[in-house]
Amino acid sequence: MKKQIDNDSENINTILNSTIEGILIIKQGFIVNANDALVQILEYKTKDELIGNLATGVLIPSTTQKFLEFNRHLFQEVTLVSNNGVLIPAIIKISDIKLSGEKYKIVSLIDLREIKENENLLFRQSKLASLGEMISMIAHQWRQPLASVGSIMAKLRFKTKKNSVIKNEDLIKDVLSVQGYLKYMSKTIDDFANFFKDDKQKEYIDIIKTTIQAKELIQPSLEITNINLEINKIDIEKIYTYKNEYIQIILNLINNSIDAITEREIKKGKIDISFVKSENYLRIKVSDNAKGIPQDIINRVFDPYFSTKHEKNGTGLGLYMCKVILEKHFSGTIDVKNTSQGACFSIDIKI
Ligand SMILES: Nc1ncnc2c1ncn2[C@@H]1O[C@H](COP(=O)(O)OP(=O)(O)O)[C@@H](O)[C@H]1O
Ligand SMILES: [Mg+2]
Repeated sequence: MKKQIDNDSENINTILNSTIEGILIIKQGFIVNANDALVQILEYKTKDELIGNLATGVLIPSTTQKFLEFNRHLFQEVTLVSNNGVLIPAIIKISDIKLSGEKYKIVSLIDLREIKENENLLFRQSKLASLGEMISMIAHQWRQPLASVGSIMAKLRFKTKKNSVIKNEDLIKDVLSVQGYLKYMSKTIDDFANFFKDDKQKEYIDIIKTTIQAKELIQPSLEITNINLEINKIDIEKIYTYKNEYIQIILNLINNSIDAITEREIKKGKIDISFVKSENYLRIKVSDNAKGIPQDIINRVFDPYFSTKHEKNGTGLGLYMCKVILEKHFSGTIDVKNTSQGACFSIDIKI
């Protein structure tokens, strides 16, 4: 009998050690077995150091109780505590089993450190990419006032060269308008810089007003492309959230619609932003009339680096970034569908 049990546990250990996932077997809250991969992840020397400890000593469920669905299994995000006190992000899957009539829990887990690092890197890259988009928006806003200041200067220079007398009041008028242009230009910088600050402070925001603010930031591009952007206002109370990140998401979606409308040479370009409120969620829909996203790529538009804008140097990070920001900071989701007219992105954020 003893030999049989020894054989069984040897077999079990062989199975446990054949996987790259960390595996923990728990009985009534205590660790009774672990595989080599887990011992390594948790920086112990042998599994004997783990056995007998409370499982909650090495495995802290995340406070947000975030569940991920993958291959039709539910996974939970947790934090592991290593022997040296290092906190390790991981996902786990727990199954109940019965061995020789006794109940055990098998926890299999995957160390997420490397994946998280890649995610952070991508996040930084996408920040940079949208910095690039910001700069080009500022450039847009500056082109016209710069040209105007230039032509006022040229006029004054021309007059002084010809020794013609410049009337005092004309000079004052010119100086005032140059000052006006300069003020406008410096305000553009402030607007964008404010928006781009990494302050990440939650505040009570009026979603409608904030959406209008996003529209104002992109107004020059809308005018140049002759696109009509409508915001369908509804009554909603303020929500406590990240203002700049919300603006960033909306700008990304508007920019994509502008791109699609111009690329496909839609005559009367239209973008609609509307809101639907339910008990726990606020849905924001951004739709356009640019004929939508081809069915064979619609599932890939949120993937990092996925872009069809080769000539225009699309980064393919815009929608990916929206998704990450939404999931990370808004407990939200983003989805896209085609309508009879074009693409319709809907964002759900928790309120
Ligand atoms: N409103 C839209 N209409 C049509 N296609 C769109 C729209 N928004 C996004 N797409 C598609 O999704 C792709 C990914 O978008 P995004 O992540 O913002 O990257 P990028 O704009 O740099 O290409 C785009 O290249 C485009 O093919
Ligand atoms: Mg984009």
